[in-house]
Amino acid sequence: MKKFLLFVLALTIVFSAYTVAFAAKKIGISMPTQSLERWNRDGEYLKAQFDQAGYETQLTYSDNKNDQQVNDIDNMISWGADLLIVAAIDGDGLNTAMDRAAEAGIPVIAYDRLIGNDAVTYYISFDNYTVGVLQGKFIEAALGLKNADGKVFNIEFTAGDPADNNAGYFFRGGFDTLKPYIDSGVLKVISGQTAFQQVATAQWSTDTALARAQNILGSYYADGTILHAWLANNDSTAAGVTQALDSDYAGDNAVIVTGQDGDIANLANIVDGKQTMTVYKNVANEAVVTLEVSKALLNGEVKGEELVKSFPVECAYDTTSYFTSPGHYTPSFLLVPTVVTKDNLDYLVDTGLYVKGEDGYLKAK
Ligand code: BGC
Repeated sequence: MKKFLLFVLALTIVFSAYTVAFAAKKIGISMPTQSLERWNRDGEYLKAQFDQAGYETQLTYSDNKNDQQVNDIDNMISWGADLLIVAAIDGDGLNTAMDRAAEAGIPVIAYDRLIGNDAVTYYISFDNYTVGVLQGKFIEAALGLKNADGKVFNIEFTAGDPADNNAGYFFRGGFDTLKPYIDSGVLKVISGQTAFQQVATAQWSTDTALARAQNILGSYYADGTILHAWLANNDSTAAGVTQALDSDYAGDNAVIVTGQDGDIANLANIVDGKQTMTVYKNVANEAVVTLEVSKALLNGEVKGEELVKSFPVECAYDTTSYFTSPGHYTPSFLLVPTVVTKDNLDYLVDTGLYVKGEDGYLKAK
């Protein structure tokens, strides 16, 4: 009997050790808001990737409120998260939550948007500066700025949320590309608004972008001055700009409008000729890369250079571009964005994530 009890005890110990060793790791996924289209897709893809790989997940959206995001992350830490994946609302607003994660020894992946705290272990995003460069180069080519032959073109700018670390990169990428033409007088910004803070849009809000665009059109273009291009850094702000052009622009030329993301409403505007291009970032691939980096991290070692070679998608490993504090560089995995216009909308269909309806408009699958 004694032997039997010892045997049962031994079995119990082995079984508990097995359960502890193989208990699913917990992944906290903190997204900023459901009010901007892309984060719904990010949340969905991330959760699906990690669930399928056998992890336990918790996904939250914080309604674009920094305090709520701090709270959501705190709850994930208390839940016993083994890894946090965070797309920050305010890159400088998460210090208390990040410090708590660091104290608890929980690694943090800054997802898409960098967080200004050294607790960040890895950064996974697209090449943000390149997004802006693609928008600037698109305008350069569409207006033929390289061979302007004495012609002068008018342009306005709309950038993103200053609390989002990405917004400055997008703006600089576009502005740096076009600045030589502004300096030489080929491009004019009639409103005079060329500083990031002047053209920024809190929370990337469509309504805020709309109000500012209406104001500019009413103040500087109501006399029939022709506007040739509006560089908007993403689709939610481009939606405000195109609405303002519809309602408040006196000219009858098609103004070139840029965007970013491939939001469904903006893709319809591209089909209708109201928006000219978008810089598409395949967030399903961003989720795939995040899973692969997370697996390596939870298994103990991330060999960045080797890891990117094993990815099914193009991605650069970068250790010199992004820092969380002066001199503290964050190892980053940067995917590659693509320009989408009316002419290559099928590129999106080919990703398998969109379908084209009989009406010619794209829908998310
Ligand atoms: C993302 C963009 C997005 C914007 C607003 C940025 O951080 O990189 O893809 O358009 O946030 O949601």
